[in-house]
Amino acid sequence: MAAAILKQTPARTTSADRTFPPGFLWGAATAAYQIEGAAALDGRTPSIWDTYCRTPGKVHNGDTGDVATDHYHRWREDVGIMTDLGLGAYRFSVSWSRVQPTGRGPAVQKGLDFYRRLTDELLEADIKPVVTLYHWDLPQEIEDAGGWPERATADRFAEYAALVADALGDRVESWTTLNEPWCSAFLGYGSGVHAPGRTDQVAALRAAHHLNLAHGKAVQALRAHLPARAQMSITLNFHHVRPLTSGPEDADAARRIDALANRVFTGPLVNGAYPADLFQDTAHLTDWSFVRDGDTSTIHQPLDFLGVNYYTPTVVSVSQGADTRRSDGHRPSPHSPWPGSDDVAFHLPPGETTAMGWAIDPSGLHDLLLRLTNDFPGLPLVITENGAAFHDYVNPAGEVHDPERIAYLSGHLTAVHQAIEAGADVRGYFLWSLLDNFEWGYGYSKRFGAVYVDYPTGTRIPKSSARWYARVARTGTLPE
Ligand code: NOJ
Repeated sequence: MAAAILKQTPARTTSADRTFPPGFLWGAATAAYQIEGAAALDGRTPSIWDTYCRTPGKVHNGDTGDVATDHYHRWREDVGIMTDLGLGAYRFSVSWSRVQPTGRGPAVQKGLDFYRRLTDELLEADIKPVVTLYHWDLPQEIEDAGGWPERATADRFAEYAALVADALGDRVESWTTLNEPWCSAFLGYGSGVHAPGRTDQVAALRAAHHLNLAHGKAVQALRAHLPARAQMSITLNFHHVRPLTSGPEDADAARRIDALANRVFTGPLVNGAYPADLFQDTAHLTDWSFVRDGDTSTIHQPLDFLGVNYYTPTVVSVSQGADTRRSDGHRPSPHSPWPGSDDVAFHLPPGETTAMGWAIDPSGLHDLLLRLTNDFPGLPLVITENGAAFHDYVNPAGEVHDPERIAYLSGHLTAVHQAIEAGADVRGYFLWSLLDNFEWGYGYSKRFGAVYVDYPTGTRIPKSSARWYARVARTGTLPE
């Protein structure tokens, strides 16, 4: 294997001090469809994920989010668990289908009340609520009208954002418009392994633009409906792309995947323009005429922080003939989620993997944070997701021991600490996830939680990693 992809695990810090800066936020994250359940209660109507789960063969074992962890009923208990863990912040998402079921018109009071009670309980417990407006659960009626490939969806989203702002703006300071729009666009409309399961590369590119536009319009709406202290952000799943070899062809494959994964978003969001190479690379598919005059300035809104989700690096080469194997970490599909880059092969780096089959490589997070620091000086970063699935089980004593997860978290937090020492402005870290939950196309087969969920009963059992993380959160220091 070429030297270029060898693990560069950061050297352990020489200073004995493994303490994070004062005020560093320690949190955990979840998403509505993955934990809430109560799919048909209090006026909620189906989202694209409810529909997708009911499409045979799409989700492992035919699992659905109908009940999930039943957080809709157990939210008080879950906030109690966060208190026990000493968390300073909780990142959760609002279900659009719960507060504005058809994606149009007035809000459903019962839906909003759920999130008001939740945020009140969090504030009471001194846990900062960090709200994500969209974590993939588009109301089905909006998809029926064309979904994210259609421009009108961006307007719908801004209206929905204003409704949530009116309801929660007095109690929530930190706002994230979209979670991982790459997945919504390219897995949802390109490879089809996420809802709504369409497989059309141009639709995926259109979706990416309209998600960017939705972000820009939503930030404008939020600013108009929220107090001045409100903080705006978006969360991206940066692919930390490395070429397999140092040759020019692999370097070009890495450049193309970087454009399709990262710069398609950061270009307009942070720099105010789409990258020219992205347009060139995809010119045989589309002329991008769906980007209208003024769109990029609408998208280019000031951000208070950038949300960074990181799990594993992405290693690419130009495919040698028949090698079409996809190790890009996403569920396999006959359709590529990389428009115009079917000739790129993805490689699993050597070394240990998680239960998702993802390589464990904290150096990717370290290097990514330094790249973002270099590319976007002055933009604070928050790690809005990092974590791992392992094969957790309850032992005869009723406990769940997960030393692999502790090692994963410890390695990645060491990398974050070293990136901060090297100059990265990282303000917080959110573990994915508070609870085991519905892992999209993998259903309930993958457990990412610091807290184990026994699905038949809903019982929660904090894993040993939860106790480890609680100590880190309480002390702000990584144990040796
Ligand atoms: C990112 C997504 O935001 C989250 O919903 C998902 O469960 C985790 N990655 C793990 O795959």
